[in-house]
Amino acid sequence: MSSFSSDKFVQISQAGVFLLAVVGALTITVKTLSFWKLLFDLYIRPGKSLKKFGAGTGAWAVITGASDGIGKEFAYQLAAAKFNILLISRTASKLQDISNDIESKYQVESKIYAMDFTNGDKKDYENLKEIIERLDVGVLINNVATNHEIPTPFILESDEIIHNIVEVNISGLLRITKIILPRMLSSNRGLIINVGSFSGMIPTPYLSVYSASKAFMSTWSAALGAELKSKGIVVENVNTYFVVSAMSKIRRSSWLIPYPNPYVRSVLSKIGVPGGASYIPYSSNVYPSHAFINWIITNTFSWSFWVKKGLAQQENIRKRALKKREREAAAAKAQ
Ligand SMILES: NC(=O)c1ccc[n+]([C@@H]2O[C@H](COP(=O)([O-])OP(=O)(O)OC[C@H]3O[C@@H](n4cnc5c(N)ncnc54)[C@H](OP(=O)(O)O)[C@@H]3O)[C@@H](O)[C@H]2O)c1
Repeated sequence: MSSFSSDKFVQISQAGVFLLAVVGALTITVKTLSFWKLLFDLYIRPGKSLKKFGAGTGAWAVITGASDGIGKEFAYQLAAAKFNILLISRTASKLQDISNDIESKYQVESKIYAMDFTNGDKKDYENLKEIIERLDVGVLINNVATNHEIPTPFILESDEIIHNIVEVNISGLLRITKIILPRMLSSNRGLIINVGSFSGMIPTPYLSVYSASKAFMSTWSAALGAELKSKGIVVENVNTYFVVSAMSKIRRSSWLIPYPNPYVRSVLSKIGVPGGASYIPYSSNVYPSHAFINWIITNTFSWSFWVKKGLAQQENIRKRALKKREREAAAAKAQ
């Protein structure tokens, strides 16, 4: 009797080991294939041509948050691709300088509209509608966003900052797109790039409202993208890790953190290629180092691991930011 039980135990153990080996082999195969697919997306697969969206035909690209950072770079590279450019942000003088520069460098037309999205002013959207109704819009870059000033627990965050993030990152996004979509639908073509963030993929404690606004952007992009696909309009949530800019407060580039120029170049050369974000519908992640990080995040530890890691990281940044504020306040008092 006891020898029968031990035989059975051995058989069950062997079956268990075999099953584990099969599951292990399958997991490794799936991960290896997904890594090869990532390499294919990043280095071989071509993106859609900007000509599909009207480049060189007098069509316009509309860019929000166009006076600095990633948005400004989109303006220059789309002008170089022969789109006329409508630039939108708060500072008219910066927009005018960029507009003049673009016109002389690329022989395209450009217009500017200065508005502060935090105001949610109906008049601004009516004015924009009037301008846009007269343009053949091929591309919309929904780039403008605002963030928490420093990582802050939700309960301590000011009502003003919460309002601004919702007004700019969510209401502004929806209102601008609603104004532009009819122009794209009437020509059966269009490209809508929504500049998203890794913090929309991994919930980021202490940047909770910004993080949730980018998750909104990602989900909305997927839903809208599916609605519009059959109408010739491509919607893409560009899942962005860090880029050197005023918002990121990072001044020097590295392998992981590019300047806006190479970042935008990779986005525009790979329209329709999902890259590292292939598991999020209508999202893309094609800047190589960002895509590798994305692949590691989604193929190694659980989401709760990454949220916990984000918590520790943001707590650390907050501590340093508060100390900096204290030093600045002391210096100001001493003057
Ligand atoms: N940089 C990163 O590491 C990073 C990472 C992930 C995602 N992103 C996303 O990338 C996008 C661009 O960020 P960025 O880093 O390029 O930022 P940035 O360099 O700070 O530029 C922000 C742009 O938006 C304009 N702007 C800001 N607030 C505005 C408002 N209330 N109304 C109108 N215009 C406003 C600014 O111009 P004015 O001051 O003249 O208005 C500027 O042109 C954002 O959607 C951001 O969430 C950035």
